Amino acid sequence: MRTIQVELGTRTYRIAIGSNLIKNLGVECRALALGDKCAIITDSNVSSHYGEVAFQSLKSAGFDPVLVVIPAGEISKNLSEVQSCYEVLAGHRVERKSFIVALGGGVVGDLAGFLAATYLRGIPLVQVPTTLLAQVDSSVGGKVGVNLKAGKNLVGAFYQPRYVACDQSVFATLPDREFKAGLAEVIKYGIIYDQSFFAKIEQNLKLLLDRDPVFLTEVVARCCEIKAEIVAQDETETGLRAILNFGHTIGHGLEAISGYGQWLHGEAISIGQIAAARLSARILGFPESEVDRIRTLFARVGLPTRINLSEEQQKRLLEAMNVDKKVVSGKIKFVLARSVGVVEFGHSVSEPLLNEIVGSLD
Ligand code: NAD
Ligand code: GLY
Repeated sequence: MRTIQVELGTRTYRIAIGSNLIKNLGVECRALALGDKCAIITDSNVSSHYGEVAFQSLKSAGFDPVLVVIPAGEISKNLSEVQSCYEVLAGHRVERKSFIVALGGGVVGDLAGFLAATYLRGIPLVQVPTTLLAQVDSSVGGKVGVNLKAGKNLVGAFYQPRYVACDQSVFATLPDREFKAGLAEVIKYGIIYDQSFFAKIEQNLKLLLDRDPVFLTEVVARCCEIKAEIVAQDETETGLRAILNFGHTIGHGLEAISGYGQWLHGEAISIGQIAAARLSARILGFPESEVDRIRTLFARVGLPTRINLSEEQQKRLLEAMNVDKKVVSGKIKFVLARSVGVVEFGHSVSEPLLNEIVGSLD
């Protein structure tokens, strides 16, 4: 088992990466000195695979869990679903020392994290991410929240978990499309922080696509390590943490204009990262050969690298990007690359250039 610490003073927590972690969830939670009552928030798919194991593990360790199942998919990441969950928590007499277990992908993690941050003004949170994307990104670092029709993640909080359990056995049931979407975030870490990690993925992509357990554990651990280093330096995104948003401004915009459902997050940020690489070439002189290298890697994974948008859709995409959280004084701020492994945040892009890039995503 690999262990990584997210160093945040008294709120420091452990990310465990290994097998059988859901089976041992109860024992691990006991070690955190939490109250007896807890709520497992999960979704309709994950529940059928891992709901019972998690429930029994917590029960055997002497906890009193309730299983709360939300419909699977991004469409559930909204305030009315949060409202329904609050009612279940109240019905189960969840108290301040009780805790919430987020058992699922990023949708469950973000929504359950938001519940934990707000119910009774905050109760402890344990993240048990079951998608690749959630293990390498969303379960770590404390961003929690839900979507509004106007945009992704517009309501939320920074709220750190007490423990993150990345059980590697969950990949046995994860659909291929979801696994590949997670690889978009994995590749992002190479682009923003570690060129040798990027090269390692290029060289060992087959192992990764075959879900080789040893290589996959190494990859998840490296991503968590990078995220932990960034979050420890800038928990609330006053600066450095923004680099984690590489490709996300256009990506989030694409998700918003498609009504959160057509594109998986990872697919949208695949297109978004290629667009950000092209902007980097125009503004920072990022080599065109490196833009091609990035595009080639996403294509080899089987992620979308282009999208054909009508003029109307382009207009809506630009509007959606303008309500993104990365807008400062009305100006969208971009993360741009100087080279693979080195990026800068806070760049403005002129309107004509942005229009040109949005007009040529195909
Ligand atoms: P998801 O949570 O919708 O999960 C994807 C699908 O896989 C769902 O249908 C789910 O039911 C199913 N699933 C999950 N685990 C499974 C398993 N082991 N076996 C079988 N099926 C399984 O999507 P996601 O890609 O994990 O997360 C996307 C969300 O994460 C987006 O809302 C995005 O905004 C958010 N996100 C948040 C952060 C953050 O820092 N908080 C970072 C990145 C992404
Ligand atoms: N996924 C971006 C962040 O955690 O900051």
